[in-house]
Amino acid sequence: MPLILGIETSCDETAAAVYNTERRQILSSELFSQVKLHEVYGGVVPEIASRSHVEKIDLIVDAALKNASIGLDEIETIAVTTKPGLASALLVGLGFAKSVAWATKKNLVGIDHNDGHIFSSFLDADGNFLSEASFFPLLCLSASGGHTSLHLVKDFYQHELIGHTLDDAAGEAFDKIGKIMDIGYPGGPLIEKLAREVDFVDTRNYPRSKKLAKSLDFSFSGLKTAVLYDLVNRGVYDLKTESSTEKLSPEIVKETASSLLNCVSDVFISKIKLALEIHPEIKTVSFVGGVACNKFIRGKISGFLENQRKGVHLLVPPPKFCTDNGAMIALAAAHKKSYDDFYLDIF
Ligand code: KG4
Ligand code: ZN
Repeated sequence: MPLILGIETSCDETAAAVYNTERRQILSSELFSQVKLHEVYGGVVPEIASRSHVEKIDLIVDAALKNASIGLDEIETIAVTTKPGLASALLVGLGFAKSVAWATKKNLVGIDHNDGHIFSSFLDADGNFLSEASFFPLLCLSASGGHTSLHLVKDFYQHELIGHTLDDAAGEAFDKIGKIMDIGYPGGPLIEKLAREVDFVDTRNYPRSKKLAKSLDFSFSGLKTAVLYDLVNRGVYDLKTESSTEKLSPEIVKETASSLLNCVSDVFISKIKLALEIHPEIKTVSFVGGVACNKFIRGKISGFLENQRKGVHLLVPPPKFCTDNGAMIALAAAHKKSYDDFYLDIF
């Protein structure tokens, strides 16, 4: 039975999964999230991430094998993320994958994390691989804490980067604004929760960048500055002490979160709209990465396609496959036509 073990340690999740290439199904997907370890710093600390991966990787791989009800001897191929990501974190996964593959004589495959996210487009809630050729050409919007990009996908491993962020990633903007308002880390899920409490109103109407209106590239650092200065002008944030004042009420936090979410979803929709105009052949749009966990943004994109682009199919993986995971790495490996040798390196 051709089984692939996928390993992912590019950032702050130690993840492993088993994919059955015959049944075209993810049999198990396990992870340890380091969020609690980095929370106090308001962002990922590479040394802490790397140490935690070392502590957890064998436990997570073991759990993935157990939950798939298989032994390591049944695995044929080991796939591992080699780029992009934190060097010290990537090296843990790669070192582990190489050692196990060498000692047990298995195939080794290095996977680009971004390719993994693109492949996550095709996973349903039960881990089934939705392998319909009719999805192509597909537009993949990938948005997380580390990247925000648009790929035109013509087939598996035939994709072209047609837009990307020129500065901050969308998730990074959520996390940074969350930090400014001191709501906790990571900011994205908390911003969604707070915005829901005010029914996703858009009271602040933050600027939608006009400079990039005709481009498929994104920019979120200007939005972050606009939110910051809005808070400063309202007297709820002090630039000198770099902290919020006692005037920052829960209502202001909620309406800021909600307006921010509206702005980011409008930016996403405007880019999807432009990409569909430039590439009218696109049949499917997929939305992946940690930010794709956001139900409000998913709903906005789905509403836009239903109302204005009938016939364009939307694929959004379940949240467990949106954030970093080993399943997308195993799936990407199943479609790679070649193996790597033991000189495989990061980047
Ligand atoms: O894909 P991911 O797990 O890791 C990276 O590759 O970065 O994405 C994490 C990012 C964080 O920035 C987090 O704030 C954001 O995804 N995120 C969300 C939501 N859940 C996670 N952003 C908005 N709404 C959410 N519900
Ligand atoms: Zn990612």
